[in-house]
Amino acid sequence: MNDFLSEKAKKLTPYVGGLQPREDGWIKLNTNENMYPPSPKMTEALNVADFSRLRLYPDGDSAILASAIADVLGVKKENIFCGNSSDEVLALAYQAFYTGKSNVISPDVSYGFYPVWGEMYDVGLSFAPVRDDFSIDTDDYKNSNGVIIANPNAPTSLALGLSCIEKIVANNPNGVILIDEAYIDFAQVESAVSLLDKYENLLVVRTFSKSHSMAGLRVGFAVGSPALIDGLRRVRDAFNTYPLDMLAQIAATAAFSDVAYTKDVTAKIIKTREKTIAALREAGVNVLDSQANFIFMECADAEALYKFLYENKILVRYWKIPRIKNFLRVSIGTDENMEVVVQCVNRFWSAEQTKHL
Ligand SMILES: Cc1ncc(COP(=O)(O)O)c(C=O)c1O
Repeated sequence: MNDFLSEKAKKLTPYVGGLQPREDGWIKLNTNENMYPPSPKMTEALNVADFSRLRLYPDGDSAILASAIADVLGVKKENIFCGNSSDEVLALAYQAFYTGKSNVISPDVSYGFYPVWGEMYDVGLSFAPVRDDFSIDTDDYKNSNGVIIANPNAPTSLALGLSCIEKIVANNPNGVILIDEAYIDFAQVESAVSLLDKYENLLVVRTFSKSHSMAGLRVGFAVGSPALIDGLRRVRDAFNTYPLDMLAQIAATAAFSDVAYTKDVTAKIIKTREKTIAALREAGVNVLDSQANFIFMECADAEALYKFLYENKILVRYWKIPRIKNFLRVSIGTDENMEVVVQCVNRFWSAEQTKHL
């Protein structure tokens, strides 16, 4: 162990993200990126950006971007906090609302970063087991000091309806209820943003990385009551007062305002998702009903299928951990990408069946 590390750094278990290969030739379906390019309006906005202004620091509050987001979501700009990725916004939320508290509840099968921040920011997380079908039991979320739920959940791809989210918020009045809506634009369920008028303790976090095809730009935001937005600002200003660079603010403003483009891209992805699920189910594979831009599929030997796909230059996500070790998470690519995946899975199955003859 490195002697220079602090005791805390020594004890951390850092998050391990999906592989980001530097060479071409992969069908990359392991980090839920979007296969389509960002809005052309984004490119136009960057083309006319005044680069001489880069000598100045950017607006720490990303006010123009916050107003654009507020307009699209039908809230006020005072309800918006912008950050350098939703991961950053989530990490700031942990520090602002949960550090030093116990009994902050989150599902046991969810985004792998949640427990990492729990350790990093001294949060006593309690993990509520999801049911065997991976659904969340809302009765597990009561009288807590906070709740953290991804909706739709990752990697399961399942979503809770708005009434379930409202029940959780109502049953936990003493803590901040953080709903991570990274994948909401691919879901049939309604966003919790519509509950914000009623609940001061509700914080919705979103990202530009999925439905807006901008994972490389690193932009995320939170929507919540002015009290919660102030809390986020407070910790941001004790860490990095200018989290979003000037060009990112320009690009994200143009992209978020192009609602028609986002709808078009997400509709295409949903169509490909449904086609892929149908084809895999026809091949006898158990695939959960996805509400996200990825699917969660079962395989008795998921690790072998992961390796087989890898050998065929297809990257997907596999976790050798309890409860989900027989599943693979596969992001939705283009129709052509997904046809290759289905063919590969079929070849894998045929080879497995021949082995057992
Ligand atoms: C549930 C969930 N929340 C947040 C993120 C992070 O997104 P960002 O790229 O904005 O950091 C991810 C990324 O995969 C995710 O799956």
